This record gives sequence, C-alpha cells and structure tokens, in this order.
Amino acid sequence: MKDKLDNMLHSARELISTVASEAELQQIKIRFLGKKGELTAIMKGMGQLSAAERPVIGALANTVKDEIESLLHERLERTRAAEIDRRLQGEKIDVTLPGRRGERGSKHPITIVTEELVAIFAALGFGVAEGPEVEKDFYNFEALNIPRDHPARDMQDTFYITDDVVLRTHTSPVQIRTMIKQAPPVRIIAPGTVYRRDSDLTHSPMFHQIEGFMVDRDISFADLKGVLTAFVTSYFGDNVKVRFRPSFFPFTEPSAEVDIACVICGGGGCRVCGQSGWLEILGSGMIDPEVFKSVGYDPELYSGFAFGMGLERIAMLKYGVNDLRLFFENDTRFLKQF
Ligand code: PHE
Repeated sequence: MKDKLDNMLHSARELISTVASEAELQQIKIRFLGKKGELTAIMKGMGQLSAAERPVIGALANTVKDEIESLLHERLERTRAAEIDRRLQGEKIDVTLPGRRGERGSKHPITIVTEELVAIFAALGFGVAEGPEVEKDFYNFEALNIPRDHPARDMQDTFYITDDVVLRTHTSPVQIRTMIKQAPPVRIIAPGTVYRRDSDLTHSPMFHQIEGFMVDRDISFADLKGVLTAFVTSYFGDNVKVRFRPSFFPFTEPSAEVDIACVICGGGGCRVCGQSGWLEILGSGMIDPEVFKSVGYDPELYSGFAFGMGLERIAMLKYGVNDLRLFFENDTRFLKQF
C-alpha cells in the first residue's frame, strides 16, 4: 500500500511537470483526486486495513494528497503566467517605430491671395459680394454696356451655355447684381471664378478675379487713384512704383490700367516685363453712365469707380511663380510652400 502511494506520487509528479495547459491539469486532478480518482479509491479502501496500518497509511495518503494538490497548484500558476507572457508578447507595441503621419493640408495660394485682398479692402470699408458663375447674358454683357455685336462676346472668348446664358467671363456682373439690389452708397469687392476660351502658357480657361467698385455722390477719379494706390502699396510694399495708364473698357469711362514697377527687374527692363519695366496688375475706370442707367441709378446724382484684377496674376507677382499652370495642377509639393 505504501509503495502504491509512493508510485502514485511519483507518476503524478512526472505527469504534472510535463503539462502545458490548464485543461490537462484538470484531467490530472480528476485522475488522482476526483470522486473516482486513484487516491480517492485508496482512501475509500482504508476501512479494510488493520488497525496498526490504518493511521500510517492514512497519514501517508494525506501527505500524497497535499503534495499532489500543491504540485497542481504550482503548475497551474506557472501555466497561467506563461499564458499571460505569451499574450503580452503578441500584443507588444514597439513605441520606437516611426508613426504614420497624416498629411496636413494647406491653403491654396489663390485662397491666400483672396483672403489677403479681402482683408486689405475690408480695412478700406469694402464689403464682400458674390454672384453665380453661370450667368445671364444681361449681367455679363448687356448691362455692362457690351452690346450684341461687341467682339468680347465672340465665341472665341466666351463659353456659351445657351444663346442667353454664359459662364461669366469676368466678375463685373456682380457690379450689376449688387447695384440692382442696393441703392448707393455701395462699396463692394467680389472675388470669384471666371471662364474664357483661352488656354496657353499665360491663360487658363478657368481663373479667378476680384472685382471692386464704389458708388456714391461725388466719387471722382482721385478716389479711384487713392484707393488703388493704397491697395498696391499695402500689398506690394510702400516703395513699389505705381502708374495709371489710359485704357478702354465698355463699362468704364475714362478707363485706366494700373501697372507696378516690374517685381523682377525693379523697372530696368527684363524678359518678364517685356523690357518695359512695368507689369500690368488691374483694369479700372469710372463707371460708365450707361451702366448706371441699366441698374436704375441716376448718373446725374451718382458717380463711382470700378476695378478688376486676375488673382493668378497677382499671386504670380507676389510669390514669384513663373508658370500659371502650377495653380491648377494641385501638386502638393507646390501648394505646401505657401
Ligand atoms: N472686367 C474687366 C476684365 O475682366 C476688368 C475691369 C473691371 C475693368 C472693372 C474695369 C473695371 O478685364
């Protein structure tokens, strides 16, 4: 009996030492200590032993039972610890690995220029207005004193949707829309997208303009010069030279184009300014009385000036960009620089 118990302990110890899972340990526990287990059977058979043997074997059986229990317990702890280790290993995060960086977006240079110009004119008291890009002939041409047979309406320049509807070729129709809705005084700038059937190194079929106009009693050409000079110097610097050059637009009389001294050569003459030393930056003029008539303003009472400029052109001069197409390709390597 004593040998049997010794052997039992021996084989239990051996078994337990090789086991790697909780389930197997459970099996071993049942095999020895379960209701029908080997040790249980011996304990149940104690009644048959002699009075002399019983306490000895009984004590031994208890020791074996305690021993097996503690072996099982110890092994169980170790198995669990190993399992936790294994899981931790699998879930380990290498905090030294370089992270995946989200690209941060940036404002498009045309947006930046628009915001800068809006801020400059806001400081001069101008509010912002907008109009549709798909525009009626009336607003884009007719009311701006551009009659039916004017060359600007030519199929060469204008995208026609129907006979009477165009993609606006400039932001000037916002003048008309604003003045029809609003009595003087008005002081408005209108940034927006415009379209022309033109595409080469310096022209894009879609580009951006900002329109400005001011109407009140007694507005004179001196106001036009003052406002535009203030704008040019605050945007391009106090020292930039400005000149007003006579020009023509159907909706202004007199008209002037504004040039600044070439930002590349400083006025000496180079390829960019065509050796002239000057760069044109905007068109302007005193609003033609015919325009006032078409919006219901009395030209005897009111006068005003208007101007319009291409934002891509302004951005090219401001940032020294030499290719118009860069603004439309949306290459993030270009866009990120602003
Ligand atoms: N609309 C003109 C253009 O697109 C610019 C302009 C606006 C000229 C206002 C004079 C007054 O060329």
